Amino acid sequence: MNRAAASHEVDGGPLIRATSDRDVLAEAAGLTVGYGGVAAIENVSFRVRRGERIALLGPNGGGKTTLLRSITGEADRISGSLRVSASWATVPQTERSRLDYPVSALDVAVMGSLASLPWWRQPGRRERAAALQALERVGMVKLAGATFGELSAGQRQRVLIARGLVQDAGLLLLDEPFTGLDASSSDRLETLIGALATEERGILIATHDLEQARRWDLVVCLNRRQIAFGPPGEVLNLAVLEATYGGAIVAIPDSGGLGILPPHHHHQS
Ligand SMILES: Nc1ncnc2c1ncn2[C@@H]1O[C@H](COP(=O)(O)OP(=O)(O)OP(=O)(O)O)[C@@H](O)[C@H]1O
Ligand SMILES: [Mg+2]
Repeated sequence: MNRAAASHEVDGGPLIRATSDRDVLAEAAGLTVGYGGVAAIENVSFRVRRGERIALLGPNGGGKTTLLRSITGEADRISGSLRVSASWATVPQTERSRLDYPVSALDVAVMGSLASLPWWRQPGRRERAAALQALERVGMVKLAGATFGELSAGQRQRVLIARGLVQDAGLLLLDEPFTGLDASSSDRLETLIGALATEERGILIATHDLEQARRWDLVVCLNRRQIAFGPPGEVLNLAVLEATYGGAIVAIPDSGGLGILPPHHHHQS
């Protein structure tokens, strides 16, 4: 889903082939981030451009969520640089404990407008219209009035993405959005993510699914430090996967491929 690189002149220098700076939504170089001054992931260097789906791979505790939090400012930058030049929206890792709040899918989508309203204004007709449009975009408008906590996991993910679209975020940060989804919901969400990327957004997706990551544009492999960053076809070799997942790497029978056994996943025989 890479946009065609454009040729252009930079600072009177030679003609180079590069996407314009405008296409870079976020860029980290030698970034170390953590909590309370203690490093959680070290030496992270990556770049997110418009139109890219980037998988964040790594074991539990490897630092996927922390990397997303570095962009939102919820984790501390300890050293290195991070430039975020787009507005971002997050879809956090599922918290089941919050699902008994009596809010509708529409309410959740409308919440995407709150940050852009002055503090004295309630969301009104315009914000509701924008929220409905976003729900339409993610295929959830028919369930706008449904209670959020009663939706399926896949439907909730799509509503939360709608909230991000209401925020008009250029950068979507999805933390394990496929966890708990059945195959058809996963396919549907993956199709939506692909469509949103073609609309010039950049999308970072923490996932435990290697096969999915192979279908996307770039991968960041994390295991308390950055193991690799690049196109899946170049990066996802045995050495990188072993450094990323350690002993949790397994050969998938009859496929010739490699899979991972994350600690919280059951082995499917
Ligand atoms: N709020 C926090 N305060 C202190 N340490 C934290 C905090 N959140 C995460 N960590 C630590 O940072 C490291 C990376 O955790 P992180 O949650 O980013 O991993 P992850 O790859 O998202 O894992 P999972 O697959 O389980 O979601 C872990 O050692 C974790 O204990
Ligand atoms: Mg996480």
